[in-house]
Amino acid sequence: MYKSILSFLCVLIFASFAIAQDAPVFKYVGSKKCAGACHKKEKQGEQLKKWQEGPHSKAYINLKAADAEAVNNEACLKCHATAAGVEADLLTKSFKIEDGVQCEACHGAGSKYKPMKIMKDRAKSVEMGLIVWEDEAAIEKMCLTCHDPANKTEGHPEPETPFNFTEMYPTVQHPIPEKK
Ligand code: HEC
Ligand code: HEC
Ligand code: HEC
Repeated sequence: MYKSILSFLCVLIFASFAIAQDAPVFKYVGSKKCAGACHKKEKQGEQLKKWQEGPHSKAYINLKAADAEAVNNEACLKCHATAAGVEADLLTKSFKIEDGVQCEACHGAGSKYKPMKIMKDRAKSVEMGLIVWEDEAAIEKMCLTCHDPANKTEGHPEPETPFNFTEMYPTVQHPIPEKK
């Protein structure tokens, strides 16, 4: 009797390990951690600097300046910040809501793919939560989740220039430079 309970428990424990391995938990680590040592370097394409100088790093700050109440509104933060509405334990200490639309808003929560040895392996990174896109059409679709007026809240201010992927994508692109 005891033996069968014991083996049942063993199976249970192994099964829970298997489940835990099947579903790793991806947490948000913030732009500084994403930049790490690599995505600051000129040779790597200075993604941190490009993002800091671009519009998305100001999405939260500008929202707050325009309407201090809006930063308590999940419906606004969905597009003006990262990880709006997720469970609090998915946010690590280095995550900052003030980062606005940071790396992980587009690339996925980075806690599990950020180690160098994972990042070097595209397939492994994707398994660990990195979001990649098949082609530019897929990238445009991702942009539109925030930039399509139809997804915006009622009475949302009109953009100065309507979203145009072909013209706007180059202004926020940050590729790894081709090796010379
Ligand atoms: C579906 C995504 C989306 C939602 C939801 C959304 N916004 Fe925006 N918001 C944007 C985008 C994208 C811009 C950049 C300009 C544009 O395309 O309209 C913007 C720009 C703004 C601006 C102009 C200043 C700036 O930040 O550049 C204000 C103010 C603003 N939003 C307020 C709000 C408020 C308040 C809410 C919630 C009630 C909200 N937004 C919800 C996507 C969104
Ligand atoms: C608004 C969405 C968005 C934000 C924010 C963003 N990225 Fe990207 N990033 C993209 C897209 C789209 C690509 C192009 C991917 C492709 O061509 O397949 C890309 C490409 C990259 C690449 C090049 C990948 C390659 O194989 O060439 C790196 C590295 C990168 N991003 C890092 C970052 C880092 C680090 C941050 C934050 C500091 C960041 N990104 C912020 C959307 C974003
Ligand atoms: C998570 C939501 C989100 C995603 C995804 C996103 N953006 Fe934005 N984007 C914003 C917000 C919010 C602003 C306004 C920032 C500000 O000025 O306060 C903005 C601003 C911009 C601007 C500055 C001009 C303008 O309309 O205000 C450009 C250009 C832009 N985004 C391009 C892109 C492109 C290209 C993509 C896809 C590769 C993309 N964005 C994906 C939310 C997003």
